[in-house]
Amino acid sequence: MRFLVLVAAATVVGATPVKRQQPQSNPILHFFVFGDSYSSSGFNETSPAPSISQPLGFPPLGTSPDDLLGNPLIANQTSSNGPNWVEFLTARWNTTTTLTYDFAISGASIPDGYTDQALNIYEPKYSSLYAGDYGNTSSQIPISNQSSSGSGGETLGMTWTSNTSIFASWVGINDINWCSLLFTTTPDVPFSECLPPRLDAYFNLMDNLYITGARNFFFINLPPLQRAPMVFEKGQKIIDNYAQGVALWNQNLFPAYVRNFTAQHPGSRAVVYDAHSAFSTILDHPRYYGFRDSTCYSCIGCRNVTGCFWSNNYHPVWQVHDRLSRDMVANLTAVGWPVQQPVS
Ligand SMILES: *[C@@H]1O[C@H](CO)[C@@H](O)[C@H](O)[C@H]1NC(C)=O
Ligand SMILES: *[C@@H]1O[C@H](CO)[C@@H](O)[C@H](O)[C@H]1NC(C)=O
Ligand SMILES: *[C@@H]1O[C@H](CO)[C@@H](O)[C@H](O)[C@H]1NC(C)=O
Ligand SMILES: *[C@@H]1O[C@H](CO)[C@@H](O)[C@H](O)[C@H]1NC(C)=O
Ligand SMILES: *[C@@H]1O[C@H](CO)[C@@H](O)[C@H](O)[C@H]1NC(C)=O
Ligand SMILES: *[C@@H]1O[C@H](CO)[C@@H](O)[C@H](O)[C@H]1NC(C)=O
Ligand SMILES: *[C@@H]1O[C@H](CO)[C@@H](O)[C@H](O)[C@H]1NC(C)=O
Ligand SMILES: *[C@@H]1O[C@H](CO)[C@@H](O)[C@H](O)[C@H]1NC(C)=O
Ligand SMILES: *[C@@H]1O[C@H](CO)[C@@H](O)[C@H](O)[C@H]1NC(C)=O
Repeated sequence: MRFLVLVAAATVVGATPVKRQQPQSNPILHFFVFGDSYSSSGFNETSPAPSISQPLGFPPLGTSPDDLLGNPLIANQTSSNGPNWVEFLTARWNTTTTLTYDFAISGASIPDGYTDQALNIYEPKYSSLYAGDYGNTSSQIPISNQSSSGSGGETLGMTWTSNTSIFASWVGINDINWCSLLFTTTPDVPFSECLPPRLDAYFNLMDNLYITGARNFFFINLPPLQRAPMVFEKGQKIIDNYAQGVALWNQNLFPAYVRNFTAQHPGSRAVVYDAHSAFSTILDHPRYYGFRDSTCYSCIGCRNVTGCFWSNNYHPVWQVHDRLSRDMVANLTAVGWPVQQPVS
């Protein structure tokens, strides 16, 4: 129990607070994840669908569910030199059988990579497994592949409903890159002009998810990217630029988009997990949390370097993901993550 709990401020915004009943046994939870290299686990559109025996579909968990760390195939698919937060939530901090559809793709930004995940991977294959429990049959109209849903459901084994699913999104990290002075091709366009169209596209995609039956949304904000080696090694001007972009996203834009989204989508609930605060807590006291310092990094695929917070110059190691994912559970509960049943 020592030092493991990070305090992260998160806010719940929702149109209707839902009072949960304690069910006798927890149903299967369907966990849909969209994002970039911080979240990608190697799953793709050709991977086997998640199942009870292999809840990630791909990569396989290994000889036992808690074999996440010893499974080299898992470590080779992530940016963390080990499991990532998605995998830890699925098999270590899960409170019920959790089937995880991790659509995240390395390098994804909005709209491109992100749109691809939602429209070309999630929608054709997995949205059609919606079994509809919100009585909103009209919401199924846009699923153009309805006719194949029966056979698809049988083939893929599992259907999901609005209240047995959570839709998680962690994206924007690469959008800050593309809008930053470090990578932009249009240096005269400030974050305040570069980011809003991307957020518009982001929330248009959330609207698509809603239409397919999504009601529980778990959003993650941006870490302090200015503290990543890739950024701070470039000097104060770039550090300040990243800090400005991250602050604009986290403090002004993102909360407003989430608030508006839930206000405009009846029956939806959303939580914003504060990754910025969670990262900062560790980076401010790295030794307290078991890291050598806040600045060193190894490289992706280098298993011989220990004690660094960063796996490479822009990604955290699996130990950070583990702490984050454990910390997230309290906040996920607000959007339907099952409460652990007491052993009787
Ligand atoms: C998709 O995932 C499978 C494993 O499920 C892997 O064998 C294949 O190489 C991946 N395809 C691409 C394009 O990454
Ligand atoms: C994982 O990557 C390491 C380093 O690149 C390689 O030596 C190893 O064979 C890979 N393992 C698997 C299971 O792909
Ligand atoms: C968590 O997931 C693993 C892998 O699917 C499963 O074996 C385990 O029973 C789950 N834990 C709980 C509390 O349901
Ligand atoms: C779903 O429908 C779209 C548009 O009709 C089509 O392009 C796509 O191939 C279909 N996907 C599947 C999995 O049937
Ligand atoms: C899920 O929704 C269905 C239909 O609205 C409802 O009957 C059921 O009680 C809900 N389950 C939970 C766990 O909220
Ligand atoms: C039902 O779906 C329609 C079409 O997507 C949407 O406009 C409406 O808000 C939904 N209603 C509820 C209660 O979810
Ligand atoms: C949120 O909604 C308000 C009121 O409709 C609007 O003025 C504002 O521009 C919206 N903000 C965003 C970020 O969509
Ligand atoms: C780790 O491995 C890399 C390449 O595999 C090597 O260059 C580096 O010196 C090693 N670091 C340590 C601390 O052993
Ligand atoms: C998120 O988790 C933190 C830490 O457990 C807690 O202080 C906070 O109230 C939670 N927020 C929500 C919305 O659940």
